[in-house]
Amino acid sequence: MMILVTGGAGFIGANFVLDWLAKSDEPLVNLDVLTYAGNLDTLRTLDGDQRHVFVRGSIGDSELVTQLLTQYKPRAVINFAAESHVDRSIHGPEDFIQTNIVGTFHLLEAVRAYWGELEEDSRQNFRMLHVSTDEVYGSLTKDEPAFTETHRYEPNSPYSASKAASDHLVRAYHHTYGLPVLTTNCSNNYGPYHFPEKLIPLMIVNALAGKTLPVYGDGQQIRDWLYVKDHCSAIRRVLESGKLGEVYNVGGWNEKPNIEIVHTICALLDELRPRPDGASYRSQITYVTDRPGHDRRYAIDASKLQRELNWKPAETFETGIRKTVQWYLDNQDWVVNVQSGNYRDWVEKNYNERHA
Ligand code: NAD
Ligand code: DAU
Repeated sequence: MMILVTGGAGFIGANFVLDWLAKSDEPLVNLDVLTYAGNLDTLRTLDGDQRHVFVRGSIGDSELVTQLLTQYKPRAVINFAAESHVDRSIHGPEDFIQTNIVGTFHLLEAVRAYWGELEEDSRQNFRMLHVSTDEVYGSLTKDEPAFTETHRYEPNSPYSASKAASDHLVRAYHHTYGLPVLTTNCSNNYGPYHFPEKLIPLMIVNALAGKTLPVYGDGQQIRDWLYVKDHCSAIRRVLESGKLGEVYNVGGWNEKPNIEIVHTICALLDELRPRPDGASYRSQITYVTDRPGHDRRYAIDASKLQRELNWKPAETFETGIRKTVQWYLDNQDWVVNVQSGNYRDWVEKNYNERHA
């Protein structure tokens, strides 16, 4: 038995791969094209581990995906591969359309052909799990109830629109061809190996480097945070026991305004790595021009997953964020390695035009 993971060198995919191989001996093929967000450093502890087969390539390369499916005969495919950063999708949407929509389409086609040729038993047991996001549901006002699985799709950024399109394709392949799919829509993740273009790692890395902490707009936008290992455990649970064709929302019941997140990070750093001048890291906070079309609030109702599949997160926000800050303090080498020229170009592009 074997599984195929796509995008397994990115933040969540790599956490999933490490977690999977820590918990089971079932090998996996990891297909990742290694964009700026893919990083083999994250998987270094698996060097020489026969259970991990890394293949550099794209989900959009039908020939390669078909070859991998035929060669390794996975019992499941888990699709993490995507362009994932909202701000990048605003600066340049095309990659998002290519990977998240066209790439997912090619992956679905290759998987459908493979699944169609399997023997009855394997056909029955095969699963394709598509990893998606709460952003497809759009934005909530302060008092609206959290997103359930039946909430209308109202994506607002090129990123969320491309993820919404991929979700619809996955749904259609189940409805039309009977492909045994599962979809998870998760809230904001945080934890180890998070690329420092996203809010939490960017704030930690900038704080330690003595740089400004750029809070978009009024900082009152709300996100619902889940520790990445809890997302991984939810995916495993849905893969094992989810009902075919169903969607499961994944979240940690941890809604927080952005500014509160930044204050929490500053307080943890003040405690764990005080600034030499004795001032608080809070003094580095700068309010900057808002993200265009910025969604005000996300909140996930994960009660279906809890009720039907008996899943709940292991971490609270307080335990998860402390582990995360400590991880970044302990893994400065990883941080330095991902801050390549490409990273510096992005930081310049995204932040130089935002006025304080
Ligand atoms: P990430 O940007 O850190 O990693 C994406 C990975 O996909 C990278 O390793 C990249 O090299 C790879 N990739 C990109 N295009 C590819 C292609 N064409 N073929 C193969 N590999 C390709 O993203 P992430 O934060 O780990 O997110 C993983 C998935 O989870 C995405 O689908 C994202 O939409 C979804 N998601 C993310 C969050 C979050 O908070 N980060 C929350 C909910 C859902
Ligand atoms: O909700 C799930 C989504 O969460 C995933 O689908 C996306 O892949 C993931 O990137 C994330 O999207 P967000 O846009 O919510 O995450 P990000 O970390 O970019 O931003 C979180 C919030 O912080 C958001 O309201 C914007 C704000 N922000 C972000 C950055 C990078 C700032 O105020 N300053 C910043 O510098």
